[in-house]
Amino acid sequence: MADDCKRLADDVKERLDGWRIERSQKRFLQLQQRAYDFNQIIGNSPTLIEVLARAKKVIENPTLTVLITGETGTGKELLARAIHYNGNSSSSPFVDIACSALPETLLESELFGFERGAFTDAREKKVGLFELAGDGSIFLDEIGDITLAMQSKLLKVIESRTMRRLGGLQDIPVRARIIAATSVDFASKVKAGSFRKDLYHRLNIMPLQIPALRERREDIPMLVKTFIDLFNKLYTKKIKSVTPDVMQLLMEHEWEGNIRELKHSIERADTDSLTPEHDFSLVVPLTEASIEEVQRKLALKVLEFVRGNKRKAAYILRVSRPRLDRILKNGSD
Ligand SMILES: Nc1ncnc2c1ncn2[C@@H]1O[C@H](COP(=O)(O)OP(=O)(O)OP(=O)(O)O)[C@@H](O)[C@H]1O
Ligand SMILES: [Mg+2]
Repeated sequence: MADDCKRLADDVKERLDGWRIERSQKRFLQLQQRAYDFNQIIGNSPTLIEVLARAKKVIENPTLTVLITGETGTGKELLARAIHYNGNSSSSPFVDIACSALPETLLESELFGFERGAFTDAREKKVGLFELAGDGSIFLDEIGDITLAMQSKLLKVIESRTMRRLGGLQDIPVRARIIAATSVDFASKVKAGSFRKDLYHRLNIMPLQIPALRERREDIPMLVKTFIDLFNKLYTKKIKSVTPDVMQLLMEHEWEGNIRELKHSIERADTDSLTPEHDFSLVVPLTEASIEEVQRKLALKVLEFVRGNKRKAAYILRVSRPRLDRILKNGSD
């Protein structure tokens, strides 16, 4: 009797645990789906809208290989995740790997896994990312940098949709969607002979090219607003907006680091040294290119705020009076 009770209690506990795990999983998935919904990819420019429309079409075909290109910080990973989490296989894993970060042998064992005894250190078998991804997606980031040997192995996987663990004899089906990304110019790599043409064509079936931010400056105001809201919430800041002259600077900046750079600039924007009781809002991009000009504009703004009192302005900016003069004169110190 006591045994029966214990068994029943164990059974109930097991089911309860299972239910709790399932619930957490669901919740996590919901959060991911919300975080990576297409509407989180901000921008209204025609080029971006077109890319997003093409990406949404990709979702209908779960095994279509996708190639996302774009400069650093343009949102390649964000788009890859949006494709995954908005598709029917979103409850399957999204596995990602930065291909350029690993030496060839390590990359190979990460991707393909190995059988026990495949090499001296292989004491246990290891399942690779292609298998781990299951029906989900495998995101091969920075694929432009992989060696020619790895390129042929990858080509084989894409063509046959099967793979073998290192040291294994069995062909294992690859069902996951392959999403590759690169910020290097593939065409020139192919020309130079460092990237296989056939693999390039295989990957390039559905190219999604995200334009650089400087090619779609009209998206900047929307992005600025989004990031201000985000960091206000995150750091309980009270930045309302940017002043027109700062917006002008933001619009004119080159943004070589693209949206990541813009996001970081806004994250670092600080109004603490200014008077918080005023509705004074200012965001400045802290990059080398425009730093002098921004410094000068910022100093002028503060000076205006304190009605031309240079001592006060210097105090607020935490600089000496002579340095303030130098900044006002030519922007640098
Ligand atoms: N359109 C967008 N709307 C909102 N946030 C964006 C957008 N594009 C990029 N971001 C944000 O910018 C940052 C950089 O994006 P992401 O990591 O996807 O870029 P990436 O192209 O993969 O860069 P890298 O080539 O350096 O790896 C992330 O924080 C991302 O959330
Ligand atoms: Mg990335």
